[in-house]
Amino acid sequence: MITKFVKITDNYNDLTEAAAILKNGGLVAFPTETVYGIGADGLNEKAVQNIFKAKGRPGDNPLILHVANIEAAGKAGEINKRAEMIFKVFSPGPVTVIVKKKNIVAPSVTAGLETVAIRIPSNRIARELILKSGVPVAAPSANLSGKPSPTSFEHVKDDLNGRVDMIIDGGAAEVGIESTVVDTTGTVPMILRPGKITYEQLKKILPDIIIEKHKSENETDYKPKSPGMKYKHYAPDAKVIVFENNKLIPKELEKLKDKKTAVFCSENSEYKADFILKWGTTAEDMARKMFWALREFDKMGAQVILCETPEKGGMGDSVRNRLYKSAGFDIRK
Ligand code: TXA
Ligand code: MG
Repeated sequence: MITKFVKITDNYNDLTEAAAILKNGGLVAFPTETVYGIGADGLNEKAVQNIFKAKGRPGDNPLILHVANIEAAGKAGEINKRAEMIFKVFSPGPVTVIVKKKNIVAPSVTAGLETVAIRIPSNRIARELILKSGVPVAAPSANLSGKPSPTSFEHVKDDLNGRVDMIIDGGAAEVGIESTVVDTTGTVPMILRPGKITYEQLKKILPDIIIEKHKSENETDYKPKSPGMKYKHYAPDAKVIVFENNKLIPKELEKLKDKKTAVFCSENSEYKADFILKWGTTAEDMARKMFWALREFDKMGAQVILCETPEKGGMGDSVRNRLYKSAGFDIRK
């Protein structure tokens, strides 16, 4: 398949062709404020199945439906009081709500589950595309399954050129990590995936909210509520090691001196490695650059990537969640 590219700066009329592709059952990769997504008409079963093929995504891992407003969300799922509160306070924005699904949703979107994940993105291109297409847009992150999520047009092109009908270039993603996922269907609301909208923020409107406890992925009874959480994730070709104690990094670099080494660290750190990329000073900075850095180090030819960690709590924990997975839980304390 020949993939078309279109760059959108401020002329949203240029989205007409992209919207038509979606409406006709094709695949369009597009920017959101979190990461880029690969979209299809969420009411068209065949189109949705093609997303799984293009990404190489396991069929039991459900997708998020992207809509423009609460009214449209109500057509795809039953918006309960908790869901309504989350949408009213944090949407449009980087949060996804899980509610009971309505039958109109294509079966593959929910991977056969009775619930559906719905998000109202704030990115202007995403919003205009959804409105112009007139359909709820099913979209996972626009990476090949298992790879780091894409935060730029280049990343999407590297993974999906020839696999989708169109890729929209809308510049760098602002947040850099995927949306917070909240399940509102249980006895208490539960965060299944941390993100920019933090536990502390959600607790202000839903005081009984809890964070799903994740066991080590090696345990045989590991059954996360979010099917996607059990798969290998965010992995570059190089091996990743995460450091909760930066003092261990120089020693590890010494041990690895026969390998091509890379360090992803804060602005103020200095190391002797083959490649160094810096994220800035805050967890927000690190979120924005993390997936980019993992992909850059692969291009540079790094064999082992050593990562510092941001401060604990809030966005720091959301970043950690991704870092730990990309390292296959090789964490040094
Ligand atoms: O920021 C984002 O959420 C990005 C952009 C493109 O919107 N999308 C994204 O989609 O990260 P994806 O497919 O990479 O992650 C969706 C996550 C997966 O972990 C999936 O298992 C979970 O949401 N999920 C989807 N539907 C679910 C459901 N009904 N119950 C539990 N988990 C669900
Ligand atoms: Mg993903």
